[in-house]
Amino acid sequence: MIFETHAHYDDRQFDEDRDDLLRSLPGAGIDKVVNIGASMGSNQQTLELIKQYDFVYGVLGIHPNDTDQLEEAGLEWLEEACKHPKCLAIGEIGLDYYWDEPDREIQKKWFRRQLNLARKMHLPVVIHSRDAAQDTIDIMKEEKAQEIGGVIHCFSYTKETAKIFLDMGFYIGVGGVITFSNGKKLKEAVEEIPMDRIVLETDCPYLAPVPFRGKRNSSLNLTYVVEAIAEIKGISKEEVERITYDNAKRLYRMA
Ligand code: NI
Repeated sequence: MIFETHAHYDDRQFDEDRDDLLRSLPGAGIDKVVNIGASMGSNQQTLELIKQYDFVYGVLGIHPNDTDQLEEAGLEWLEEACKHPKCLAIGEIGLDYYWDEPDREIQKKWFRRQLNLARKMHLPVVIHSRDAAQDTIDIMKEEKAQEIGGVIHCFSYTKETAKIFLDMGFYIGVGGVITFSNGKKLKEAVEEIPMDRIVLETDCPYLAPVPFRGKRNSSLNLTYVVEAIAEIKGISKEEVERITYDNAKRLYRMA
């Protein structure tokens, strides 16, 4: 059984077949799915999805690239919405310096504010960090993120940086990039990351693994990620599924 820790089934790329696709997942061994909010709109859609499907859970938050639309009222809405019993964490939040917008100071401000919301609500965080390792680490240390806990989603940094996040007690999200021929840095990191800190994720519709690279991704493709991790770690695919399933339950504090 596979625990999908990070998907975006609200994305319009799923408009044509969302219901059929979601209903096919449990029968294909995808036992739990966490849909991740990124904007006010996708947070609303996440709430709809968790109402509709038993096996779908939600994470609510504002992605760094969407922080320019965030205001105090938005944060207040989040604080109420995340009280939903199927809301497992605050996310995805963080820093993304790949794009020039929004201004870095705006991203940092709302990263801190959402970290503090998670602390207040006793929820873990799902962190998105791209081309922003040092600032992410600095803010996490200043805000004592080790007391909040969570996952670094779609981890894209070196094994040395992984160690810093692991030392803060965080889990590391691994997805399709592990199958890419240019995914050497991630493969090296996964060699070093202890098996009990890895969780499976797609970030679908993005980042489909080989042999579907460039196509629309879905949780059905996680088997390719499982296979790649099994090979690197020298364990069976069943062990990868079982261990990452237990890790995800601990990450999201599910009984
Ligand atoms: Ni995502």
